[in-house]
Amino acid sequence: MADLAILGGQPTRTADYPEWPVHDERDVQAVAEVIRSGQWGGYPYPGPRTAEFIRRFQELQGGGYGVAMVNGTVTMEVALRASDIGWGDEVLVPAYTFQATASAPMAAGAVPVIVDIDPQTYCIDPRAAEAAITPRTKAIIPVHLGAQMADMDAIMALAERHNLIVIEDCAHAHGAKWRGRGAGTIGHFGSFSLQSSKTLTAGEGGILLCRTPELAARAASIIDCGRPHDPEEKQFTMGANYRMSELHAALLLVGIERFPEQARQREEMAAYMDEALSEVPGVRVLKRDERHTTRSFYRYIFAIDPQVFGVKHDVVCAALEAEGIPCWEGYEAMHHYELFQPKLSRLPVPSAFPQAFAFENMDLPEAERACEAEAVWFGENIFRAGPQGVDDAVNALKKIQANSAKLAEALASRTQ
Ligand SMILES: Cc1ncc(COP(=O)(O)O)c(C=O)c1O
Repeated sequence: MADLAILGGQPTRTADYPEWPVHDERDVQAVAEVIRSGQWGGYPYPGPRTAEFIRRFQELQGGGYGVAMVNGTVTMEVALRASDIGWGDEVLVPAYTFQATASAPMAAGAVPVIVDIDPQTYCIDPRAAEAAITPRTKAIIPVHLGAQMADMDAIMALAERHNLIVIEDCAHAHGAKWRGRGAGTIGHFGSFSLQSSKTLTAGEGGILLCRTPELAARAASIIDCGRPHDPEEKQFTMGANYRMSELHAALLLVGIERFPEQARQREEMAAYMDEALSEVPGVRVLKRDERHTTRSFYRYIFAIDPQVFGVKHDVVCAALEAEGIPCWEGYEAMHHYELFQPKLSRLPVPSAFPQAFAFENMDLPEAERACEAEAVWFGENIFRAGPQGVDDAVNALKKIQANSAKLAEALASRTQ
């Protein structure tokens, strides 16, 4: 077996994977038209292209009342504020996610309560969430991570039992479906990021799908400097300018045209990846839940067994990168982020509720295992490179696995 590229051998792949975002003359034309139209911004809200994008996005996800805004973090803050959730209320969030899922409740004045994940999916564990409920718990933010969806049946049942608002963080789940229902249309809200790396993007942007027109009107007021959007409302409410611009909406209208074919290609190649990876010793493909009827692939996450590989995921990722396969070991566990430590932060919420941030007392073994040892993330572009793109990634991993003793040895001699 050839030497590992990280130890001086030849890489498995020398060709680049396809770039993201994809663009052509249609994007240039769409932006040029906005510039010529003279209506660049998002006021009056929504602008014509923004309104059209909202309509098309609702169609894509199959429901909801959309409010388009500047990113996929304020979407969650706005959802909480539109639900009257604020100072001192508790919001359940998973330990394995981007920091925005926990910082959005803090921006609304609420306390993010970090709970462990299900090792089968790496999404929030509904039992751990139920165990963390107190009389102050008002909402839960399940994150549909990578290519998975949280168990929405269990979460909706839990929310009903405890009267919680459900905000699905769908930053990774454009086009995904659970029992045929679109991600973001099952809970009270669905929050989508449209930032550069996301599978539908205008560079920046976000959209919040709301369950009712009333919630959408409240959200629209909050993002439109507090202007009344409900015919009943006469007064300004507390708000800020988080409106989507027409330039962003124009790019999204082109991107949404391309989306179905890209999603189909990713899904087809990811099924091929599932099969190929399940033959690699020491690799665990995450659960394929039958209720998750359409998968979307922002990132494809799988687990390596550090006992079998002799090294942890960060070393496997470095070796994969050297083989020409872009990958990442994923997020840190949320309770390790310094941002949330009261002693290191002057933010009002951790300062006012230090008990909730006493992370040294937290026991989140599944998130620790995923974040510190097991998880490997492939980018969506591997699936846009056709079967060869998948074969190269899997062959590189097989090569690393077969040479793992040498890799562990080299690492040990370097750290001596
Ligand atoms: C899970 C998750 N939630 C929220 C966000 C926030 O999105 P944005 O960067 O648009 O604010 C991201 C962005 O990377 C994310 O990955």
